[in-house]
Amino acid sequence: MPEPLIRFKGINKHYRTGQVRTHVLRDVDLEVQEGEYLAIVGTSGSGKSTLLNIIGGLDRDFTGEAHVAGQEISKLRDLQLSHFRNEKVGFVFQHFNLLDHLSAAENVALPAMFAARPMPDARERAVAVLERVGIGAKAAELPANLSGGQKQRVAIARALFSRPRLLLCDEPTGNLDSNTGQQIIELFASLVNDDGITLVIVTHEARVSSTAHRVIQLEDGRILADVENGHLEIGTGAKAKAEAGKTEEPEEEPRAEEPEEEEKAEEPEEPEKAEKAEKAEKAEKAEEAEKAEKAEKAEEPEKAEQAPEQDDEEKAWEPDDWEPDENEAEGRVKQV
Ligand SMILES: Nc1ncnc2c1ncn2[C@@H]1O[C@H](COP(=O)(O)OP(=O)(O)OP(=O)(O)O)[C@@H](O)[C@H]1O
Ligand SMILES: [Mg+2]
Repeated sequence: MPEPLIRFKGINKHYRTGQVRTHVLRDVDLEVQEGEYLAIVGTSGSGKSTLLNIIGGLDRDFTGEAHVAGQEISKLRDLQLSHFRNEKVGFVFQHFNLLDHLSAAENVALPAMFAARPMPDARERAVAVLERVGIGAKAAELPANLSGGQKQRVAIARALFSRPRLLLCDEPTGNLDSNTGQQIIELFASLVNDDGITLVIVTHEARVSSTAHRVIQLEDGRILADVENGHLEIGTGAKAKAEAGKTEEPEEEPRAEEPEEEEKAEEPEEPEKAEKAEKAEKAEKAEEAEKAEKAEKAEEPEKAEQAPEQDDEEKAWEPDDWEPDENEAEGRVKQV
């Protein structure tokens, strides 16, 4: 039985403001499997962002056990924690948080540019990830020249740059109009289904949570409900990995509110069949992406990007031979 990617046990979190101590998370137990797509819903102030921040290693001030990607968050020292945040998780927020004076590609490659050992092919990798999210043609644009949906795609590309297994999103469609939000939701589904990303999304939108494998509802810091979306199958992307030699076995774990028997121990598909299905799905996605792109920027239609194959290659890069293409770009980066 594989270790869940996220395993929280008895998490409690308090905030203190002056004399007032607020109990924000109460005895939260949570397990999320690799390849799972989880939506966190709940009223404002129920603790959603607080929980997401703990998962992402942004907050160590809690009690209980918080294991994420094999690490115990509360035991990580500062440097280990920043390593964890840079490599194991990607974050996407409601307000895209892009740096205005950097191009889309520079925004995406920023962590690699600032690394102690800069990545030699950071720019190429940034463009490849931008292509993956459907805006390769916008790599050189400044954020001011991008639509809201395109900015959020840049932010998603930035989150994916270091090939994290886990993507954490806090109301990622909250700042987008309905159509653009829908396209971003479809992109998320594709990242889960095609690339095997594990996705945790805080959302107020029913249409986001309806695409998730599973929805938890927080109320006053407690998990009030934990519901599986029966018709959605977890781990299509993970299945592709299984065919390449790894195996995925979703754990059977009764949930607090609704004990359920999870019957997702999938038999690996025949490679040929899976490959065809994958190709068909990709073609469909490419078509959708094309439509999305056209709708988003009618003034400059772009060709649809084909999702590149997920590649498990290690992030090894040499310090010596990478130079930014433009000195100007490097100068701008250094001012940040
Ligand atoms: N830095 C802080 N200091 C003190 N209290 C805080 C802090 N951050 C959050 N809180 C409190 O913790 C509780 C949970 O906040 P949190 O941001 O997790 O809620 P949320 O569910 O994400 O809400 P929203 O949907 O409005 O974003 C709230 O009562 C909030 O006021
Ligand atoms: Mg919040």
